[in-house]
Amino acid sequence: MPKFTVTTSISYPNGRPHLGHALEAVQADFLARFHRAKNDSVFFQTGVDVHGLKNQKAAAAAGQDTHDFITGQTEHFLALLSALNVRYDRFIRTDDPEHVQMAQALWRTCEVNGDIYKKTYRAWYNVKQEEFLGSADEVSDPATFGIDVSFIELIEEENYFFAQSKYTEQILTLLKSGEYKVYPEHRAAELIRFLEEKGLQDVSISREKSRLGWGIPVPGDENQVMYVWFDALTNYLTGCAILEGDKIMTNERWPIDLHCVGKDISRFHGLMWPAMLLSAGLTPPSSLLVHGFVLKDGHVMSKTLGNVIVPEEPLEKFGTDALRWFLLRSLPTTDDGDFTMERLAQVYSSDLGNDYGNLVSRVLAMVAKYCKSKVPEGTGGQEIVTETWQKYDQQAEAIQIHDALATAHQLVVYCNRRIQEFQPWDVAKDEARKKELDSFLYEMLEIIRSVTCMFWPAMPATAEKVFSQVFVIDDWWEPLQPGHQLGASVILFPRVEL
Ligand code: MSP
Repeated sequence: MPKFTVTTSISYPNGRPHLGHALEAVQADFLARFHRAKNDSVFFQTGVDVHGLKNQKAAAAAGQDTHDFITGQTEHFLALLSALNVRYDRFIRTDDPEHVQMAQALWRTCEVNGDIYKKTYRAWYNVKQEEFLGSADEVSDPATFGIDVSFIELIEEENYFFAQSKYTEQILTLLKSGEYKVYPEHRAAELIRFLEEKGLQDVSISREKSRLGWGIPVPGDENQVMYVWFDALTNYLTGCAILEGDKIMTNERWPIDLHCVGKDISRFHGLMWPAMLLSAGLTPPSSLLVHGFVLKDGHVMSKTLGNVIVPEEPLEKFGTDALRWFLLRSLPTTDDGDFTMERLAQVYSSDLGNDYGNLVSRVLAMVAKYCKSKVPEGTGGQEIVTETWQKYDQQAEAIQIHDALATAHQLVVYCNRRIQEFQPWDVAKDEARKKELDSFLYEMLEIIRSVTCMFWPAMPATAEKVFSQVFVIDDWWEPLQPGHQLGASVILFPRVEL
């Protein structure tokens, strides 16, 4: 059985989750479900990244104990995943003892392999991104970095360094050969260009405990804690390996098939993470999806700008599946896209209400009226359905989720057009054309069944409702049997006033 191990990045629970977090979770969930529908052995991991300065500062600003603050915030992330109907297999908190041990074991493995050393240095640090910006000996003015200097701190410490520069060539080969495939292509090109122009610089992977208490202790040095990214990236290993002493034993889920991350953290996943794994003698991931950002009026959402969209409002108003559909179908998978309640309302009433919802209820009403709600005898539809499946599968495999859903949606448009052309209500007046009418309705039902299978990874609850209440079948993948009694009509997407 082919396997599919997929992850989201792990979010900083320093604030409430926003629509960007929702996008990533829903994309990974779509892909996990797409593979589950193919009977692949799927493992889907997500979680929270609890350590680091950013979380520590947020807790202090809230006047709370860091651990309590993180626990409270994590509840909001768990609640969001549940509200979005995201079906993950494992949720990791990076202070889980199992993860702490894994991060320490990975550290020791890299150390034993000669890739960790100590060095005194002065560097600029971006607290917002938890990222080292460069040596303070080379850059004297932090304003040079072009970001809000209030996020930048000067760090002067003796820290441990990870010798990732050693792996520049190997990672270049992985990326160029597609052995580590990055979607979309221009993000792969960006990483390759970075390696070719700059190469990987060794990176500090620890902080003095006196300055950053909130982290995983560095093994063998009680005065230092791990740099949050070394700790956080290891979470992917925690879900796919066990320890025998210090030996990391990966299981059948390894290597990771796909990491889903935003464009701001592509270097950590595209460069540092494979370097860590190569250092430890572990297989790097197979692919990386770098998604776009959800924008508000063309701007990145940020607390400073005060334009953060929380998912609660769209969820309450339009429901889980409508928001999932919007994030997956109306935003381009790997480009930025704007979210507004007005756009969501429009997509809700057009794609979902008028197109799909109406199709299901119209066809069902006709089958009720002309066939006593029993599946009529018929054939047809196979050709267009087979063609559509091929295209849909190919687009979903290529992680063009919005295109795959557009392809499926085309079948809905096709059915609505066919109904207009065929005018079943007229055909029904002519007893001699009963067979033709039956065959037409059978074709419509069969296409709806296939579309609903294609929609399931995007709108699981809606699809499940259609199969249980409309089709009343357990086996979604088998053609409908003539004579089978269908259920009553349902309103899938009731009218919503903005
Ligand atoms: N903790 C790190 C990830 C560590 S993974 C080993 C982190 N956390 S985050 O909370 O800042 O971001 C989590 C994910 O949300 C990232 O992939 C990030 O790109 C994504 N997004 C944050 N804002 C976003 C949007 N506005 N739109 C879409 N996704 C964006 O980075």
